[in-house]
Amino acid sequence: MKKTIIAFLAIGLTACASYKIVAPSKTDVEHGSAKYPGLTLADLTEGKTIFERNCVKCHSPQRPFRVSAAEVEKIMPKMAKKAGIDSRKSELVLKYLITMKGTAKKYYSIRI
Ligand code: HEC
Repeated sequence: MKKTIIAFLAIGLTACASYKIVAPSKTDVEHGSAKYPGLTLADLTEGKTIFERNCVKCHSPQRPFRVSAAEVEKIMPKMAKKAGIDSRKSELVLKYLITMKGTAKKYYSIRI
């Protein structure tokens, strides 16, 4: 049991120390508006915050990046349930992820 806890802590700490999730910019808003009309910078920023607080605790921030946008959309309801977030928050995380996937290089930077 103790070992499991330590292993989880180590994974958690590595995730925190290794990635910096980059804040969305106006360019990202312009990009995302094509898919989500009326999208604002506040929406994307809130989506990022929710993602950091509720999703990254279980897996690395890279995870939604390894799969296609369609796969992220498909798994989102299941993940929202796991994260315990409501549909409004789930929608914001989804908008954030799909938008940032389109501007891939800006999504996160790796700190070694
Ligand atoms: C309680 C832990 C937990 C939380 C919280 C969680 N996830 Fe997951 N996530 C998992 C597990 C476990 C999987 C593995 C696949 C499965 O369960 O279907 C997964 C898989 C995924 C995948 C698919 C990746 C792949 O390789 O197929 C995506 C995308 C994803 N999660 C995004 C999110 C997002 C976004 C959130 C926040 C809303 C989130 N997850 C919250 C545990 C979690």
